[in-house]
Amino acid sequence: MTEEINLENFGIFDGISETIVTTGTTIPNAAPIGIIRKDEKPFVRVYKGSDTYANIAKNNALIANITYDPILFVRSTFGNLNNNEFVMESINEVKYPALKEALGWIFFRCEEIQYNSEALVARIEPIAGKINKSPLKAPNRGFFAIIEATVHATRYELTCQDKYRELVLENLKLAEKCGGKQEKEAANLLRDIISSTCIK
Ligand SMILES: Cc1cc2nc3c(=O)[nH]c(=O)nc-3n(C[C@H](O)[C@H](O)[C@H](O)COP(=O)(O)O)c2cc1C
Repeated sequence: MTEEINLENFGIFDGISETIVTTGTTIPNAAPIGIIRKDEKPFVRVYKGSDTYANIAKNNALIANITYDPILFVRSTFGNLNNNEFVMESINEVKYPALKEALGWIFFRCEEIQYNSEALVARIEPIAGKINKSPLKAPNRGFFAIIEATVHATRYELTCQDKYRELVLENLKLAEKCGGKQEKEAANLLRDIISSTCIK
């Protein structure tokens, strides 16, 4: 456990960093959520209706997990992970879930939460963190294509508009061309999800 948390040491720089956020002190939950840094204090914007939203509103806390696993991004978007994929971490004597396979994670306390009709916006303060492994990883377009495809797939699921389906399929082509084994598996998973979504 680190004393003072420097976000850069955990790979969180300015702009939007895509992480898998784990929440819930009784039932662990995981979902991709962007950590937004524009000025000094980071924040998250979480849309109503998700388990992540309910857990953050209840516990005022979240763990942002850093991972390059494309399959985890797809699975945690369209379902939840198995209980044995979480590890419970004790922070000030409360147990919060983190991802076993994360490269590292940061526990954030939500300092100030604003609610509007669509979402909550929480200013978050890093309290604790752990680096499990820190490998060099050159950017792979296939991984980012999976991230793009997954985001478009959530929009397709929400709206059933063909343009999102096409964007998903285009990105899956790229994932299959540039990705490794994991990206190809994530692409297959997403293709299955898309083919059973919005059936008329
Ligand atoms: C790369 C990526 C980033 C995402 N970022 C956010 C975000 O910042 N805020 C949000 O509300 N949803 C975001 N989502 C969508 C949620 O992950 C999605 O709605 C998820 O199903 C919520 O799951 P839950 O009900 O288990 O919390 C993102 C999805 C992806 C694929």
